[in-house]
Amino acid sequence: MNLICWTLVALLGPLTLACYAQAPARKEKSDVKKQEFGKLPDGTAIELYTLSNGKGMQAGIMTYGGVVVSLTAPDRSGKYADVVLGMADFPGYLTPPPYFGARIGRYGNRIGHAQFSLEGHVFHLPANDGPNTLHGGIKGFDKHVWKATPGSGPDASLELTYTSKDGEEGFPGNLSAKVVYTLSAANELKIDYTATTDKNTVVNLTNHSYFNLAGQGEGDILGHEVMIAADRFTPVDSVLIPTGELRAVKGTPFDFTKATAIGARIEQNDEQLRFGKGYDHNWVLNSKGGLAKAAEVHDPKTGRVMEVWTTEPGLQFYTGNFLDGTLKGKGGKVYARRNAFCMETQHFPDSPNKPSFPTTELKPGATYHTTTSYRFRAK
Ligand code: GLA
Repeated sequence: MNLICWTLVALLGPLTLACYAQAPARKEKSDVKKQEFGKLPDGTAIELYTLSNGKGMQAGIMTYGGVVVSLTAPDRSGKYADVVLGMADFPGYLTPPPYFGARIGRYGNRIGHAQFSLEGHVFHLPANDGPNTLHGGIKGFDKHVWKATPGSGPDASLELTYTSKDGEEGFPGNLSAKVVYTLSAANELKIDYTATTDKNTVVNLTNHSYFNLAGQGEGDILGHEVMIAADRFTPVDSVLIPTGELRAVKGTPFDFTKATAIGARIEQNDEQLRFGKGYDHNWVLNSKGGLAKAAEVHDPKTGRVMEVWTTEPGLQFYTGNFLDGTLKGKGGKVYARRNAFCMETQHFPDSPNKPSFPTTELKPGATYHTTTSYRFRAK
């Protein structure tokens, strides 16, 4: 019961005890704790910040790659479990795993033929995914140390900043990136991204958490039911570069406008599913701007529900098709194929080479700002 309620009880009598029922059900206060998580080979200390929302939910975020190393959410009986994949310890992240929980930049997803042009100048990037550039190149934002500052508001929050140098991984302009994670009492992990540049560049930042709503390492996600608020998706070629078409999902295995189990159609004989080895595609969200619900995922076994809200126009839904059981995860768990799914909110892949897609260009003087939030409940 808060101070206002106690004061009302003292002044107006016990009737006001009704306040008690409405008082926030926080068991404790939200807070942010810091501990050392490991060291880079050059001795740089890596810190782990644990955000607690005062109700039982926690998010662990480390300064290396801004990685969300853990995230707990309640099931229908109120039991919390860690719902994101991660490595057993810090050295595991240096191997490295396939972007578990990472801050992806400067350009999330693929840029075709590892190049793009801006104002007539061609920029060559490292090819790290066949002929293409994936997730910012060989040493993307997920492999740099970010500077952390805990927030001071009522909700637990953490600000991370990183400045990517002009020419880093081939991209033009010094780019100052800031990511703020906020864990609210409403069981929501909100991620705000901002960036500014001193030269024209492209930017597309995202979060690469691998979710399993039954708990990390608890088998495959094929029974999870997914809704994606998108009538179209961007079909790809055999190396997962969008063809430029915005194709209707209606009548295809890509129609998630009504909640459908991930496994219901994933093995259908469909060229797009063959190219992705399952789902590994960008959906064109129906939202016309502003923070809108992009997706909802429900695990019928535990009742956990995750809603994804975003200001972004696209959502890469990836079903862990490349996981192969070789990584040693948290608690000794083994992550086999399709043991997790990702929902990477983003601008569309290869936008720098697709003038018809929403632009990813950022000019000096402008500020890039996007928000994505993951909201948890159970039913
Ligand atoms: C993204 C890509 C996938 C895969 C994963 C990491 O989701 O779209 O193809 O590269 O990252 O393994």
